[in-house]
Amino acid sequence: MKTLVLGPGGREHAIVQALRADPVVSEVRCAPGNAGIAKEVPVYPIDVSSPQLVVELCQELQPDLVVVGPEALLAAGVTNALQAAGFAVFGPTHQAAKLESSKAFAKEVMHAAGVPTGDAKTAVNLEQLEAALDEFDAPYVVKDDGLAAGKGVIVTSDRDAAIAHGRDIFSGGDPVLVEEFLEGPEVSVFVIADGADGVAMTPAQDFKRVFNDDEGANTGGMGAYTPLEWLPENFTDDVMEQVARPVLKEMADRGTPFTGVLYCGLTVTNKGIQVIEFNARFGDPETQPVLARLKTPLGQLLKAAADGKLRATFPTITFHDHSAVGVVMAAEGYPEAPQAGAQITGVAEAAKLEGVSILHAGTTAGSSGEFTASGGRLLTVVATGDDLATARDSAYAAVEHISVPNGHYRTDIAAKAISGDITIPGA
Ligand code: AMP
Ligand code: GLY
Repeated sequence: MKTLVLGPGGREHAIVQALRADPVVSEVRCAPGNAGIAKEVPVYPIDVSSPQLVVELCQELQPDLVVVGPEALLAAGVTNALQAAGFAVFGPTHQAAKLESSKAFAKEVMHAAGVPTGDAKTAVNLEQLEAALDEFDAPYVVKDDGLAAGKGVIVTSDRDAAIAHGRDIFSGGDPVLVEEFLEGPEVSVFVIADGADGVAMTPAQDFKRVFNDDEGANTGGMGAYTPLEWLPENFTDDVMEQVARPVLKEMADRGTPFTGVLYCGLTVTNKGIQVIEFNARFGDPETQPVLARLKTPLGQLLKAAADGKLRATFPTITFHDHSAVGVVMAAEGYPEAPQAGAQITGVAEAAKLEGVSILHAGTTAGSSGEFTASGGRLLTVVATGDDLATARDSAYAAVEHISVPNGHYRTDIAAKAISGDITIPGA
């Protein structure tokens, strides 16, 4: 099976590696890829947000399966264009991807499907915003209704800051969503969906804030780990039953079936599972440690989903017992204003450590054979180990080998899970 992965980041690097490990996959290619992916498979530096350019590339390469990574491509209709040209695609159409690209739409679908989620109000002007803030009380949750790569949200008890964030969003032309504050640990569950039904992957936890102890701005994600031993038993079954199946059925009933990853961003509250958001793709960086534990062959799994034959072929997805931890190394200034140009060294040395794999995102090949920073999140350093503590120690040992001048990373990825300090409110 010939495969093509679309996207530039650490998630796509992890997908490329997992596809290469599938014995049925004979060929893996990536567009546009990045400097790390280019060391492993052929890359094609096209503008993948152009459906037409992607179709032209596929007509040349004739892949049996195209795997779409980023949300922007889905929202731009890359899946629609590829399907119309006769290609098998893992990734939703732009109509189905609206579950991610419009938070108001996602709320409407959840209400129709009876899925547990916080109350929310949409505001299109200042007056409505203030009324919504009065209704929900502090801490305030104010979100951009459109795609904002995880950075469009503010959670604050400062009413003026909440209003200022809302004004910012209005000035970009999007509506504002004000939400009930949900308290409890967050979990990401990737449900592989084939339009009719879905199968869950093992849960992971992401670290969204830029600094240790969840301080600072929201980012795309600074690290992740799996498994989550602190979760209640049957958690994944509950997610399928309470969240994923009702949403997949609702989308199919509306004539816009969802094929791809239904990423369920959840909070485990004292009232049970609540949905914070859906994404229409694999999460970054959660995918990096999750795929490091995957046993089921990824190419065959995603092809079965693209062909609408998932449940018959893969009624479950299996994972290795070991643990995996991923630490994101970011450029100076990320997320507000990432600085390009830092010379990254030590990557090759770190990659030689046992159980370690270095996945690239915003890097370009440097003239000296090393890498140059060219994005916000540069690398995800992933390590596996018999338990979470071992995996975490290995990941940070590898991070220590790598130098990103003026860069930064969190030092507390998976720490609370290891020390037993994650609690579910009311449990
Ligand atoms: P989102 O872009 O919706 O994924 O939000 C990004 C992050 O903001 C989430 O991962 C949470 O940490 C936080 N957040 C979003 N919505 C809420 C909420 N209703 N209650 C508490 N925290 C939230
Ligand atoms: N790590 C969060 C996301 O992919 O949206």
